[in-house]
Amino acid sequence: MRVLVTGKQGQLAKQLQLDASSAITLQALDRAQCDIRDATDVLAAVTDFSPDVVINAAAYTAVDQAESDAEQAYAINALGAENIARACLATNARLIHVSTDFVFNGQHAQPYQPSDAIDPLGVYGDSKADGEHRVQALMPAAIILRTAWVYSCHGSNFMKTMLRLMAERDDLGVVADQIGTPTSTPTLARAIFALIDNTQAQGIYHCTDAGQGSWYDFAAAIYQQAQALGLLPANKSVTIRPITTTEYPLPAQRPAYSVLDHSRLHADTGLMMRDWRAVLAEELDKLLAEMAQTLKDS
Ligand SMILES: NC(=O)c1ccc[n+]([C@@H]2O[C@H](COP(=O)([O-])OP(=O)(O)OC[C@H]3O[C@@H](n4cnc5c(N)ncnc54)[C@H](OP(=O)(O)O)[C@@H]3O)[C@@H](O)[C@H]2O)c1
Repeated sequence: MRVLVTGKQGQLAKQLQLDASSAITLQALDRAQCDIRDATDVLAAVTDFSPDVVINAAAYTAVDQAESDAEQAYAINALGAENIARACLATNARLIHVSTDFVFNGQHAQPYQPSDAIDPLGVYGDSKADGEHRVQALMPAAIILRTAWVYSCHGSNFMKTMLRLMAERDDLGVVADQIGTPTSTPTLARAIFALIDNTQAQGIYHCTDAGQGSWYDFAAAIYQQAQALGLLPANKSVTIRPITTTEYPLPAQRPAYSVLDHSRLHADTGLMMRDWRAVLAEELDKLLAEMAQTLKDS
């Protein structure tokens, strides 16, 4: 099984490279090797490697910056996705295209189903929605995998930012009126490999860890678990305060509620999602082990 991954340096792509089984020959390409905005580049990369499956993990993910940089956001998230779908069609490869909870407007009171109507609130969400439409129009058999609140030991993300801020500050206000589900890259990679194994899988799937919480809940769990593991400076105490979205204005509007229902993923792969707090504990453990290894190597 030959699998090509775009966006090599990203947090999801890194996890896919780490977790691919020995049955998979995986090639990951970074922006310099395959700029997904360039249709010729993409077709050449896909034709050269001749993959069975392409995973599009490349994206413009700077949600706030996208509001003033729409051209690039659409070039990468919409046109880039279309370029990859065209190359997959031309070479008869399957496509797993990764998308986001930000395609929803957040007005639901119960988890979003893959079939629910999308209505993005900002440029990032709209560019990702455009990418979904372009992929689906060209390749109805493609898999669109929506996820949310992605974090990992690798790359920059909310967990890493919170750990840094908790080491620097005594007081942190964190938004408590946006509800979603933190999702680790190992969970996402597991879902992607399971979808590859199911050759009948196609269409839209949702993948997040289980449960739900606010950004405040996520920060509080990071603090509690990091303290227990000794990941924060000794005797460091931080007050974490719940605040509202209006108290922390940002350029892009976010959905107030974006919990995703992943029962279709479970039905088609058998995967059981685990509670996000338990998964967070594992990621923090890994971070601790990596820090210890770096210290040992230095
Ligand atoms: N992060 C989240 O919280 C979140 C939530 C929901 C959904 N998602 C989706 O999950 C997927 C993976 O996200 P992630 O968190 O792993 O993203 P990430 O860490 O920001 O990585 C994205 C990667 O895409 C690369 N890239 C950007 N433009 C490119 C281009 N024109 N050609 C080739 N590569 C390009 C970036 O390369 P450079 O380093 O060169 O810029 C970066 O390595 C994305 O589809 C994202 O929309 C993410």
